[in-house]
Amino acid sequence: MRTRRSLLDLDDLTAEELTEVFARAGAFEASTPEKRLAGVACVNLFFEPSTRTFTSFNLAELRLGAEVVNLAPKDLSYLNKGETIEDTVITLSAMGIGVLVVRHPEEGFPASVAMNFDGHVVNAGDGTHAHPTQALLDLYTLLEEFASLRGRDIAVVGDVVHSRVARSLLAGLKRLGANVRLVGPEAFVPQHYGDGGAVVERDFDRVLPDVDAVLLLRIQRERFAGAPISDEEYIARYRLDAPRLKKLRKKAIVLHPGPYNRGIELDESVLRFPGWRYTTQVMHGVSVRMAVLDLLVNGT
Ligand code: ASP
Ligand code: CP
Repeated sequence: MRTRRSLLDLDDLTAEELTEVFARAGAFEASTPEKRLAGVACVNLFFEPSTRTFTSFNLAELRLGAEVVNLAPKDLSYLNKGETIEDTVITLSAMGIGVLVVRHPEEGFPASVAMNFDGHVVNAGDGTHAHPTQALLDLYTLLEEFASLRGRDIAVVGDVVHSRVARSLLAGLKRLGANVRLVGPEAFVPQHYGDGGAVVERDFDRVLPDVDAVLLLRIQRERFAGAPISDEEYIARYRLDAPRLKKLRKKAIVLHPGPYNRGIELDESVLRFPGWRYTTQVMHGVSVRMAVLDLLVNGT
């Protein structure tokens, strides 16, 4: 049996494991799961706000029968009693904690935690770096729709430069053979982002008729100072609204990792669009996270 230690980004999963995560997520959705994490203690350590990721990891752990502890920053001695994060992690290891789910504003924080921890670490989003379980649930949602992503055209629109969701998703889309268009102004999609195989586009209206799916991103205002583009200009050029929805192909779908900002990257008409898949993504988030925890703890 092979066990994977941690999931820090999508590269930590082999192609086989990626397929396995999707298969297990499907199985968990199809029937009541067994308590495959019985006796495993999971600690959720979130240093940034989170509605979706936090709640779905909690549900995933509980549905698999794990013991669950939620540690908020205010509960951590290391933030005001002189202890280090390394010693905090050593302490949690000594209690036999099996899984640490970590969200943090600093890139690489979950990886540094993993160096001192005996169990499995799951990155629940670190700075602008990575958000692997979000990418997995986005890929799962796309695969449910299209069966294969090879040759499919996917537009990722908005603040790509500050988005850990975009970074992890791009890696996954590339692995699964999709054609990716990164759409946005220079400040959010630098020209050199096209060097890795994706096509950089500035004109959203021109891209709309050519894609199978659009993934909208929130402007990550908490990650930069100032306003590289005014809201008015962003809305005029990049907001998905009724006239732009009309330009999409008939079977095209629209995704968003959430939280979405009504009036900025989308308007109300998107929420009524038949191809809007946001709630489907959220629903799959629980089963995909169950699959990840099961794979890390119980192996392939
Ligand atoms: N919730 C996602 C994240 O934490 C996306 C976002 O915040 O816009 O990265
Ligand atoms: N998509 C996502 O990560 O949402 P939260 O920030 O609410 O967890």
